[in-house]
Amino acid sequence: MSALAHVLPPSATIEDDHLCVGGCDLVRLADEHGTPLVVYDEGLLRATMRSYRDAFATREPGSEVLYASKAYFGLAVLRMAAEEGLSVDVASGGELYAATKAGFPPARIYMHGNNKDAREIEELMSVGVGTVIVDGFDEISLLADRATSRGITQRVLVRVTPGVEPDTHEFISTGQVDSKFGFPLADGLAAQAVNEIRAAGGLEFAGLHAHIGSQLLALDGFASAAHVMADFARGIGGEIQVLDMGGGLGIAHTRDQVPPSIDSYAGAVVGAVTKAWQDAGLPMPKLLVEPGRSMVGRAGLTIYRVGGVKQVPGVRTYVGVDGGMSDLLRPMLYGAQYEVVVANRAAEEPNGTVRIVGKHCESGDILVREAQVPQVGAGDLLCLPATGAYGVSMSSNYNGVTRPAVVFVDQGKSRVVTRRETYAELVSRDL
Ligand SMILES: Cc1ncc(COP(=O)(O)O)c(C=O)c1O
Repeated sequence: MSALAHVLPPSATIEDDHLCVGGCDLVRLADEHGTPLVVYDEGLLRATMRSYRDAFATREPGSEVLYASKAYFGLAVLRMAAEEGLSVDVASGGELYAATKAGFPPARIYMHGNNKDAREIEELMSVGVGTVIVDGFDEISLLADRATSRGITQRVLVRVTPGVEPDTHEFISTGQVDSKFGFPLADGLAAQAVNEIRAAGGLEFAGLHAHIGSQLLALDGFASAAHVMADFARGIGGEIQVLDMGGGLGIAHTRDQVPPSIDSYAGAVVGAVTKAWQDAGLPMPKLLVEPGRSMVGRAGLTIYRVGGVKQVPGVRTYVGVDGGMSDLLRPMLYGAQYEVVVANRAAEEPNGTVRIVGKHCESGDILVREAQVPQVGAGDLLCLPATGAYGVSMSSNYNGVTRPAVVFVDQGKSRVVTRRETYAELVSRDL
């Protein structure tokens, strides 16, 4: 298990051959709460939020760290982010609802979305959301119209696609020109958006936003993006109040991935923006970042129980578990890879390669293509580490599967923060 030390939470230990996190035995938790079960190391969540806050506050006082709630918008984690003084990025009316329920002051809510509809715009204005990140021309007129009729001035940022292509999967790469997100610089479209906002009633242009992509294991894309953004800022008149550099810092999902630390990420982003703005001869804007995955990913683990093992002679061994694409879609969505620890035999060394598959009616419902495990059989508990981001938040009820419970663990104590869904809830909206 030592090869997985940077994939598991630092609190992970092996006690009596069982995998423990936050001082709690995962086998006991699985027996008590059923599987699949999502477990978060609460201490690590809080420590990560503080590391982010401190890494930016010490380098760039006045900067703001927003938690990108799409990574996992459970109320318990949102409340923690609010308590730790973070702001929040929401990307839909539903995430906005959760953020307000969790107690974020409206001024600390930033509303994203590449296709905000009229209802969401009404909702964000009723809540009094501090800042809206504008993503398209139709949205500008909708926002201006609603703000004018309410007699308010809505503060907005303009999302720009800086034309930077980071080294990550195309589905989570967002900074390139060919993207559904944001305004391209080409043909003056981003500049036109800024002009339209400045000319419109009811809107205050506060600055710019760029998110180049997710699961970035190299930091060089930020320097290129910062320079593009500074040139653009100069082109639209120079000084801007705010620059939001998005999220993107990667985590280790597998043993071979080595992500930069939060501290080096903060150093790289602050350094890149400071240099780009100095080179452009402009006053430094207030800096914002929006990390999601790196805030919650490593703290979360998913535990499954093995139902059956099927050997296809000369081909491979399939190990079937009681969850799959409904609780962890990323492997199917973009080939994401995970490691596996057998939670009830955690001290045993792997001695073979198997394919871990879910219980859904799709051949593509594969959780881990090539898992290195000791011999496993029915009843064993498989733990997939680093599943805390974009797992629960992308979960579904496909095949009538009920979504898992979520348990927080810390210093030997556990508490359920989201209970398992019931069958009755599966049909509760049907009339
Ligand atoms: C606009 C925006 N901000 C922040 C994030 C969070 O990114 P990450 O989870 O990679 O930090 C995303 C993710 O897709 C995003 O689209």
